[in-house]
Amino acid sequence: MNHTFAKDVIDGLTAAEKHLSSKYFYDDNGSRIFQEIMNMPEYYLTDSEFEILSLQAKQITEALAFNRPFNIIELGAGDGFKTFKLLEYLTKSSIQFNYIPIDISQEAMDILVEKLKRKLPGIMIEPKVGDYFEILQQNNDSQWPSLLLFLGSNIGNYLKEDALELLRLFNQNMKTDDKLLIGIDLRKNPRTIQNAYDDPHGITKRFNMNLLIRMNRELGADFQLDDFDFYCHYNPDDGKVKSYIVSLKEQIVTFKKLNKGIRFQQNELIWTEISKKYSLSEIETMAQKTGFQVKENFKDCKHYFVDSLWNKD
Ligand code: AVJ
Repeated sequence: MNHTFAKDVIDGLTAAEKHLSSKYFYDDNGSRIFQEIMNMPEYYLTDSEFEILSLQAKQITEALAFNRPFNIIELGAGDGFKTFKLLEYLTKSSIQFNYIPIDISQEAMDILVEKLKRKLPGIMIEPKVGDYFEILQQNNDSQWPSLLLFLGSNIGNYLKEDALELLRLFNQNMKTDDKLLIGIDLRKNPRTIQNAYDDPHGITKRFNMNLLIRMNRELGADFQLDDFDFYCHYNPDDGKVKSYIVSLKEQIVTFKKLNKGIRFQQNELIWTEISKKYSLSEIETMAQKTGFQVKENFKDCKHYFVDSLWNKD
């Protein structure tokens, strides 16, 4: 049994407003469902960022202005599908770089390395499995400047203060000339955003309900999936998509391995995720508050998404 998970579940489900962290979506099954989400036409984020890195790799590279070999450190690389376009451009242009993908999943790293070595023979790749900051600290010793990649709008999963704290930590672990390329989903027509999360295929619902399956398996809980539903809502006033699991009746769920019962009222919510959408001026402010300067914004043709390149202040 994973004790951090157990503790977070108990803390979250005994709070006045029940909540669970979206980081627990990503067990093997959840990671597979997330791949399905990225393949849905409604989930525009992936296509938009893919377009940016495909069509603007040259402009991004020029804006880096490293003019010598550099490291590319990718935080949460996953299967590396989007990043491939950038790495391909650099390789074709004979620009020397060392690619350091970081992910918590050993399996994801193995797949990525195999794919990259096959598609880009001769690539220098140093995969790391584990904690972002330990690995970033080692980067301080490198003679080469580094480009940090934090793509996919992962920053959207953090509440305001947590996002600022994370970015400050990135900043503190960067050398003077290092740069950060951060992928952020932009505010847009609220219906476009609503459809990406409240999808008609029910894939995002499965993604959320997988948390219940995970608690059943790992904590011996007895969640009946039919007694719960999924609800999400985009609020264009604050740019936040909030996702929830809803208890459809009054019930008690028992956690065998924890010797604990949790009571749910009818229609009580478990808040599972925030996916924050930003305006360009909010991005500007966030950079400024965390010791960065926005060097250049790379948007897709629909202006749905931005890969924002930041310098250390
Ligand atoms: C991986 C955090 C960017 O918030 O859009 C997709 C995860 N959640 N559909 C997001 C997610 C529901 C995704 N991020």
